[in-house]
Amino acid sequence: MKIISPSLLSADFLNLQRDIDMLNKSEAQWFHLDIMDGVFVPNISYGFPIIAPIRKSTTKVLDVHLMITQPERYIDDFAKAGADYLTVHSEASPHLHRTLQYIRSKGMKAGVALNPHTPLSAIEEVIDMADMILLMSVNPGFGGQSFIDSTMDKIVRLKAMITAKGASTLIQVDGGVTPLNAKALFDAGVDVVVAGSAVFNSKDPMQTIKDIIK
Ligand code: DX5
Ligand code: ZN
Repeated sequence: MKIISPSLLSADFLNLQRDIDMLNKSEAQWFHLDIMDGVFVPNISYGFPIIAPIRKSTTKVLDVHLMITQPERYIDDFAKAGADYLTVHSEASPHLHRTLQYIRSKGMKAGVALNPHTPLSAIEEVIDMADMILLMSVNPGFGGQSFIDSTMDKIVRLKAMITAKGASTLIQVDGGVTPLNAKALFDAGVDVVVAGSAVFNSKDPMQTIKDIIK
């Protein structure tokens, strides 16, 4: 299954309703929401006052990517805000096993994100407790960066790890995804691609969404 999760980070916040209407009409199955705290990453994005109205404006899957320290402090709030997938960074969560269990206990799907430098061994022991592993293909914090090529090899190794464990964990890739590299990502075993600038900065975002998952 090829899933695209357009990142609202690159949406036009003064015309958010318009961009959400576009996504609702598009073939995108998920919405990707990037939460940044200015500590874990060198940028601050948006929080609950934006998420709650977005939840009311769509029935699509809300895929929330937390780039914040101590993410466990906010799990209850994201459950209340209506997140479907809640992804925490392994680098930000020293008690990842407990964090994933807690996310699932709140009725959400649990994801773990890895920065480009973080080895796959960081999630080896929790693969079957995670519904999704997010491989960052840029250093998190900003949209519009170039895809880090070594991610391709990491995808192939992660896919093999998941298969060997007999798990059904999804693989998500986030950063620098475009219509030009998306096919190679899906072919390598990716289930979900995130795309921000490639979608929202294009002349025809709905067509770009189609092109990415075709
Ligand atoms: C980066 C965020 C991404 C970002 C991707 O830290 O996690 O989701 O929006 O943007 P593009 O697709 O422009 O690289
Ligand atoms: Zn993201």
